[in-house]
Amino acid sequence: MRLPQRLMTIVKFIPAGSVVADIGTDHAILPVYLIEQGISEKVIAGDLNKGPLEMAEKNVLEAGLLDKIMLRQGNGLEIIDAGEVDTVVIAGMGGSTIREIIENAGNAAYSLKRLVLQPMNDSRRLRKWLVKSGWGIEDEDIVEEDGRLYEVICTVPGVEKTADLDIASVGPRLFEKRHPLLIKVIRNELENYNRIVLDMEKSASPKTALKRREVRQEIEILERIEKCLLSNARL
Ligand SMILES: C[S@@+](CC[C@H](N)C(=O)[O-])C[C@H]1O[C@@H](n2cnc3c(N)ncnc32)[C@H](O)[C@@H]1O
Repeated sequence: MRLPQRLMTIVKFIPAGSVVADIGTDHAILPVYLIEQGISEKVIAGDLNKGPLEMAEKNVLEAGLLDKIMLRQGNGLEIIDAGEVDTVVIAGMGGSTIREIIENAGNAAYSLKRLVLQPMNDSRRLRKWLVKSGWGIEDEDIVEEDGRLYEVICTVPGVEKTADLDIASVGPRLFEKRHPLLIKVIRNELENYNRIVLDMEKSASPKTALKRREVRQEIEILERIEKCLLSNARL
């Protein structure tokens, strides 16, 4: 089975021998790949919804891997028993849904070795929450596929070594390695924020004025980081 680049980037962060749970597996192509490539011997493929899980079952059956991939329907990490897996993948969902899934797992999440996350949006807010909640960013990557940028975050229980929350939000490991696509991610975000500010200027409500100030602050942070990246300076 061939995987899209987005999922291949996730695979890079899964060490051989890992016991994995793929939360929100949908088609289960990631679990099938992990077993077929000998990266994992056992994978739990979970999904909240019946339809995706039926699709997953069809693919797993076709691959002849029903004995190695356990299909479970349920919400987030609720489908995993304590100590059952060491690595959890949560990919292709919004940043706030990913956060909710980790948060709902409570202390159990911290007994995992790593979480490999691929948020479709809100990655800065997700990283900020992670580092404030006892997760360190171990490594990260960005991949561009079909004109879209995807960020992949590998996070582990512990303290994030970058104290600067602004840098942590854009990706501390991405910033350290001056990832060539980081500037593109930042510029996309700046474009969105500038559009939001323009829209907000049409409204005179005090609530909007407050929100506009917050967005302007975010723009300042991102412009500062963009400048550092361009001049190759530290923040
Ligand atoms: C867009 S698909 C992503 C599929 C796959 N992970 C990928 O990256 O290609 C999102 C999947 O997550 C599932 N999902 C959404 N919220 C969930 C939750 N709280 N727990 C488990 N699965 C969830 C949806 O049913 C859907 O199948």
